[in-house]
Amino acid sequence: MIYVLPTELSKAGLKKIRRKLEKQNSIFSQKKYLDGLYLPSHIIGRKKQAEELLLHIESLRQGFVVPVISVYGRSGSGKSTLVKFVCNNIDDLACFAFANLRKAKTVFGCANIILSEFGMPSLKSADGINKTVDVLAKCISERLESHGKKFMILVLDEYDAIFSDKRNNPSDFMYKLLTLEEELRQKDLWLCIITISNNALSEYTLDDRIKSRMGNSEVFFPPYTKDDISQILKDRAEKAFTKKIEDKIVQYCAEIGSAEHGDARRALDLLRVAGELCDGTKITIHDIDSANQKLQKDRLELVVTNASYHQKHLIGAICRNLLNDDSGWTATSAIYDRYKSIIQDDVNPLSYRRISDLLVELKNTGLVHSRTISRGRAGYGTEYRLLFSPHMVGPYVGKEWWDRVVSKKLRKDTANALLDRLKPRSRRQSSYNSIFKKYGI
Ligand SMILES: Nc1ncnc2c1ncn2[C@@H]1O[C@H](COP(=O)(O)OP(=O)(O)OP(=O)(O)O)[C@@H](O)[C@H]1O
Ligand SMILES: [Mg+2]
Repeated sequence: MIYVLPTELSKAGLKKIRRKLEKQNSIFSQKKYLDGLYLPSHIIGRKKQAEELLLHIESLRQGFVVPVISVYGRSGSGKSTLVKFVCNNIDDLACFAFANLRKAKTVFGCANIILSEFGMPSLKSADGINKTVDVLAKCISERLESHGKKFMILVLDEYDAIFSDKRNNPSDFMYKLLTLEEELRQKDLWLCIITISNNALSEYTLDDRIKSRMGNSEVFFPPYTKDDISQILKDRAEKAFTKKIEDKIVQYCAEIGSAEHGDARRALDLLRVAGELCDGTKITIHDIDSANQKLQKDRLELVVTNASYHQKHLIGAICRNLLNDDSGWTATSAIYDRYKSIIQDDVNPLSYRRISDLLVELKNTGLVHSRTISRGRAGYGTEYRLLFSPHMVGPYVGKEWWDRVVSKKLRKDTANALLDRLKPRSRRQSSYNSIFKKYGI
């Protein structure tokens, strides 16, 4: 069989695309300043958090080492940036290694990522976690020795990853790291671990003996305000664009970035994408709106397509409930019932408790909002609202499934409209099937 490409990409075609992109990018002088991974040479605000971090770190000089510093706060609140910035600027005192654990699926994977920061090849899981900790001890000693230092700071960014391993115990891993700290001390080498996470509650699942050994040195990053974000944006926009960006544009981006989570990354992305979408000479409010829509769609797709089986069905359950509910809110119990009804028959449903946890995780992704409502004597309950239309989210859960759900609803709505004319509402339930049959809906 001969395959024919639908369109041919000629040299001239490629040139045309490049010219178009060149024109699009002509508004940027240095786009890297709008990159979410860019490490700025100076930090706007966050003085309190820098002081708190330094207070813990500087006590190294007095021979006092905090075993673990927990840094936490919402996404885009500047945690990774500030910790890196501080660590980069204390090289007179300590060596530091920065491991981002996001890609790890298991505790063993986390250990390998840490080792790779020290230039070590990955170990096999058959080697066991003890071996990885032994190798890490050796790497730390060697690094300190070669730099003529006594203090090591090990940053574990996106530390929540160790809690996603359901088979291995994160407490054991932390226990081993804390034991490693103690062993190094006997050689007059001092290790301090900084954990960075979105969720302050994740650590509560650790065993009490570990929590007490970790101490409670915490640094909290509150979400940015609109003013904070507009300052960050102004600073970056000056370097990133060839022309001055109007103040109202910066303010508008800051407003969107601060509206839900006080997220500086989101605001920077917004400005960058608006720059890419604009006519190459000027960014307008309309460009920001289009950029916002594009980013939301991209984010939505990323969250839903990367979700686990149960999470995906949970999202599906919320969409399904909200399709029938004009209030826009659906309660945990209703979501749980729906979730159980839509998962495959041969799959065991997760417990109500676990589903409540997954809903909190979903909230952290920015897909849903929650509110607590009082149910009188029945106590308090939580309700959820999608931040996107169910028609936008549903197809990502499963295109065919969603089409079926929507067409079923359409049939029901049509039948309702007919019944409204024929029968009082109280006698309706039993009549759907006969109506479907009679009118061929
Ligand atoms: N105070 C600040 N000054 C300058 N730039 C900042 C500041 N805070 C955040 N940024 C910029 O915002 C973006 C996001 O920040 P960062 O990656 O540190 O957030 P985070 O809290 O680690 O988020 P996540 O939890 O999603 O990892 C980065 O591009 C960073 O350079
Ligand atoms: Mg980060």
